[in-house]
Amino acid sequence: MSNPSPHSTESLRLGVNVDHVATIRNARGGSFPDPVRAAQLAEAAGADGITAHLREDRRHISDNDIERLANELTAPLNFEMAATPEMLKIALKLKPHAACIVPEKREELTTEGGLDVVNKFNQLKPYVNSLNEAGIRVSLFVDPEPTQLDSAISIGVPIIELHTGSYCEKTGLARGHELQRIKESAQHANEIGLECHAGHGLDFKTMPSIAAIPNIVELNIGHFLIGEAIFGGLDSAVKRMRALMDDARAKNNGCTRA
Ligand code: PXP
Repeated sequence: MSNPSPHSTESLRLGVNVDHVATIRNARGGSFPDPVRAAQLAEAAGADGITAHLREDRRHISDNDIERLANELTAPLNFEMAATPEMLKIALKLKPHAACIVPEKREELTTEGGLDVVNKFNQLKPYVNSLNEAGIRVSLFVDPEPTQLDSAISIGVPIIELHTGSYCEKTGLARGHELQRIKESAQHANEIGLECHAGHGLDFKTMPSIAAIPNIVELNIGHFLIGEAIFGGLDSAVKRMRALMDDARAKNNGCTRA
């Protein structure tokens, strides 16, 4: 199919994930540093949205954090959640702008792979239905596999987020292969009418090739930006990421920036 969908756009949004501000806060308990303050700073520095993952074990973001992020920000909140009754109840109460359903295992260090929408279709469907009915923009975090995208469109979500973790972890030819899978999946998403986001593990070096993919309209980046903030401040880290994203996208559009 060659018809351009409404999602084929030149603009690229940056969602800043503030989970690891809470990780640092929780290392000592108390209230410093505050993820809401970081979110406000990220927004002022050029973030288009804020993402936070309330994990079942509350290892970083707390219930109070997510409530404050939902109520105190002007930027749209993307609530990352596992498909569990507890998380659905919180999403329906807080009504964030968007919710990204992610797989979650207690023992993992981070979200280690995408959702298996093909095999968990019946399990995920009621969650997607309830979030859709509440007017929340639902996305599914999936590996760059066309079959997962086909299931995502059948289940009724408007958006998928492609997991860029394998691409970031690999080097050389293997990374090139992962990049190709992401490009093909982004194109497939566009052809079947899914809005395409991407994220996980992105930094100043790995992000530009992803930002250059025209069918991707949003990147969600956390760990690297919060780590980089230790050295040069969050304002500078977000501004630099934003500028590099815009450059990568502009080059891909054949424009040269002044
Ligand atoms: N997107 C999703 C769905 C995620 O689960 C995460 C990690 O919480 C990210 C993006 C951001 O990944 P990172 O913190 O590695 O930038």
